[in-house]
Amino acid sequence: PWGIQLFGRDPDDFAFAIRRLLSEPLYRTSSFIDLNMGCPAPKVLKEGAGCSLMRDSQLVSRIVEAAVRAGSAFGCPVTAKIRSGISADAINAVKIARAIEQGGAAAVTVHARTLDQYYRGKADWQVIGHVKEALSIPVFGNGDLELPGDLEKMRSLTGCDGFMVGRAARGNPFIFRALRGGSAEVSTEEWLSVMIEHLDASVEMLGEAVAVRELRSHFSFYLRGFEGSAHFRRQVMEPTGRDGVVQILREAARRREAI
Ligand SMILES: Cc1cc2nc3c(=O)[nH]c(=O)nc-3n(C[C@H](O)[C@H](O)[C@H](O)COP(=O)(O)O)c2cc1C
Repeated sequence: PWGIQLFGRDPDDFAFAIRRLLSEPLYRTSSFIDLNMGCPAPKVLKEGAGCSLMRDSQLVSRIVEAAVRAGSAFGCPVTAKIRSGISADAINAVKIARAIEQGGAAAVTVHARTLDQYYRGKADWQVIGHVKEALSIPVFGNGDLELPGDLEKMRSLTGCDGFMVGRAARGNPFIFRALRGGSAEVSTEEWLSVMIEHLDASVEMLGEAVAVRELRSHFSFYLRGFEGSAHFRRQVMEPTGRDGVVQILREAARRREAI
């Protein structure tokens, strides 16, 4: 399954974007549309979008209703992602999550940090538990999941139905099996083949030029943790085509294997 996330402020914009996207065969295969109500980036907040929406629960309801109406015409569920609140003295995840549920969303993800925490400090998982208690739709917990055992800890504290992993997955898609108790070891062969698969899938979806540009930041995370890796992080910024990137990844794999 895969999903598309949208940010914005105007309910009609969301509905328009959803209809437009789901009319395209490529995007029609999306399993859900997620509404971003948690982004703290200044350029997003400036538009009144992302986490700004958490200041206005009535607007949240109207956005979700409009999005759900648009999605349901294509049989596509709508979900939303929120934060704990705006600040430590304005924790309102429960109120916003209720508005999202009443608007007809299929699930909510809670990043258990406030807007003014940005990505700093520790996530307060208790807020996820409060949202879970208040809602009947599935609640996904997010924030600081990175080590084996973390899923069990979050589930026992919050009762959440599922999990979302952010930063720990950058350049490390292997984390999903490690969090589930599988091996954290990644052979160089697997590492290389997953990087190439990531690149090729992105080329298929975005076209070569855009994919190569967008994946540079991902490769700068993949290419860590072995002697000499800084050299490859610099090199992978250069190529503009898929084959040039693959050549550097293969060289990096030879170096990683030789150590
Ligand atoms: C560079 C960066 C970009 C992000 N972009 C998005 C985004 O587009 N949509 C979203 O819902 N969350 C986004 N997030 C937030 C993560 O999904 C997640 O909520 C947050 O990092 C906390 O989870 P973590 O502690 O597992 O990283 C982004 C985070 C980072 C660091």
